[in-house]
Amino acid sequence: MLRTHTCGQLRPADAGKEAVLAGWVHRRRDHGGLIFIDLRDRYGITQLVFDPSTSPTAHAVAATVRAEYVLQVRGLVQIRPPGMANPNLSTGEIELRVLEARVLNECRPLPFEIADGQPVDEALRLRYRYLDLRRERMQRNLILRHRVVKFIRDFLDSRGFLEIETPMLIKSTPEGARDYVVPSRVHPGKFYALPQSPQQLKQLLMIAGFDRYFQIARCFRDEDLRADRQPEFTQLDLEMAFVDQEDILQVTEELFTALVRTVTPEWRVISPFPRLTYDEAIDLYGTDKPDLRYDMRIHDISDLLAGTGFRVFRQALDSGQVVRALVAPGLAEAPRRELDALAELAKGAGAKGLITLAVHADEVRSPVMRYLAAEEVAAIVSRVGASPGDLILVVADERMAAAAALGELRRQLGQRLGLAPKDLLAFAWVTDFPLFEWDKEENRWKATHHPFTMPRDEDIPLLESDPGRVRAKCYDIVCNGFELSSGSIRCHRRDVQEKIFAVLQYSPEEAERRFGHLLRAFEYGAPPHGGIAPGIDRLVMLLAGESNIRQVIAFPKNQSAMDLMMDAPAPISPEQLAELHLQVCVEEEPSG
Ligand code: AMO
Ligand code: AMP
Repeated sequence: MLRTHTCGQLRPADAGKEAVLAGWVHRRRDHGGLIFIDLRDRYGITQLVFDPSTSPTAHAVAATVRAEYVLQVRGLVQIRPPGMANPNLSTGEIELRVLEARVLNECRPLPFEIADGQPVDEALRLRYRYLDLRRERMQRNLILRHRVVKFIRDFLDSRGFLEIETPMLIKSTPEGARDYVVPSRVHPGKFYALPQSPQQLKQLLMIAGFDRYFQIARCFRDEDLRADRQPEFTQLDLEMAFVDQEDILQVTEELFTALVRTVTPEWRVISPFPRLTYDEAIDLYGTDKPDLRYDMRIHDISDLLAGTGFRVFRQALDSGQVVRALVAPGLAEAPRRELDALAELAKGAGAKGLITLAVHADEVRSPVMRYLAAEEVAAIVSRVGASPGDLILVVADERMAAAAALGELRRQLGQRLGLAPKDLLAFAWVTDFPLFEWDKEENRWKATHHPFTMPRDEDIPLLESDPGRVRAKCYDIVCNGFELSSGSIRCHRRDVQEKIFAVLQYSPEEAERRFGHLLRAFEYGAPPHGGIAPGIDRLVMLLAGESNIRQVIAFPKNQSAMDLMMDAPAPISPEQLAELHLQVCVEEEPSG
């Protein structure tokens, strides 16, 4: 070993001992006579003292090194002089008086500072990710990620789960995104798909008798990227046989609760997790991934306006739409331009407009006051529980459109007004999603979760008569406004699965071509089964207090799915293309 201790290890009890350390030059301070260097590795920082009267040669080495040089030193551990201890360092009470120093490697001038923790342009960080990862915050995040995954593995192992790997080169498993495909050299014109998730494989493992499976599984999806989406990401993929929904909810909730309690006890969680149906989530919070760190509910006020003469509400109610409202606490005095901004926000989220009612001690003020009856206004104020000083925001629209607009207003106001406690992870279950969603663009039903989800028993007859009303045995974990996990009880009977494919307009031939293997397997004694898949990146992001999953992934892609460090994707050679029986139809971009 090139060292006897790490840079985070030495303590006052080691005083008088000799130690050899190796690490990076974090900071160097030249005090004329003495030179101080903070030597860093992932365990911490140790202060080195170079005294020309102790070792002129070591002092001369110290005089030449710069930030991020790799240094090896041998020295004597000594207690720092009185008043010089640094309480922010684990080694802050000692320093190493250096007897001998050796530069193991030099470092070019840096593209950005490692030591100061100042924000750096993300493209530059990603290009020099190995330097970015040296920074304390990133080290902390990746260490946390390791602990989380380790805890998950140990927990599930103790509950009898087996970790089984599934292949990366498979056939398309649809999760609602485009596939990444890999051309086959041996089979001209044929392609593998990278898994969007191990969904079908874990179901096949249930049929194979491994009744408690998990995997820390890499998934690949070609979709538009956002702060919480990467083209390749990691799931805790989990599946159990001989269970119903409640069993999956229980084991997952126990896992999450124990994980936070053990690995990040600084976070508060609400236990047991609150449960909302999909309808409740939409109607009360305007989204299927509500941020429950604060209450701020949406109220339906349609019934209070049954007799209204106000055109906007009248027309909406007459055509079966809803009128819903949200209270923005303390915004009654908000200036005109802020109200306009709220209206723009609502419109941006699809609303046709926004009506505001400002509640004051002696009156309610609104641009549409003269169209509303006094009793209507009083009833609204009372229904939404507004107090003087509050602003009521009202939207009239179709249920889902009103939800989207008010949900977005709720989210933004929560942020702007700082309503969310800083130390809370508000996990919650959302259950009873509809099995299908109507796709307006393509004019057909789509699976809300994925096509292998079991309908609720009592809704199976509706598959043929009224697919839109079929509820699924399907559940999400949401946390602080993010969708963290999705899962479902699966269809394990071929007849039900075929009915679902029929609603999705897969012809029997197409269903056979795409999913024949699964349908066939169902006929060989498939046990009832179900599972869930928490996103590891999103989970670690929340536990780390970050707002972007790139902060908890060692080597992420940027927003346009590029690896800026390795410069991928990249062209391949004409020989490789020929071998893969591929021709490229686009002009190559001029390289520069
Ligand atoms: P689903 O598609 O909902 O379900 O994904 C489950 C969880 O995976 C995470 N996730 C992502 N994380 C980062 N980047 C992405 N592009 C991305 N896409 C999804 C989210 C999400 O909640 N096979 C089913 C699970 C099952 O039914 O058991 C599935 O993949 O945290
Ligand atoms: P208009 O009928 O477009 O002149 O709108 C009159 C007022 O009602 C404006 O303040 C609009 O923002 C608002 N408004 C219009 N349509 C809706 C709606 N569907 N929900 C809430 N407010 C609306």
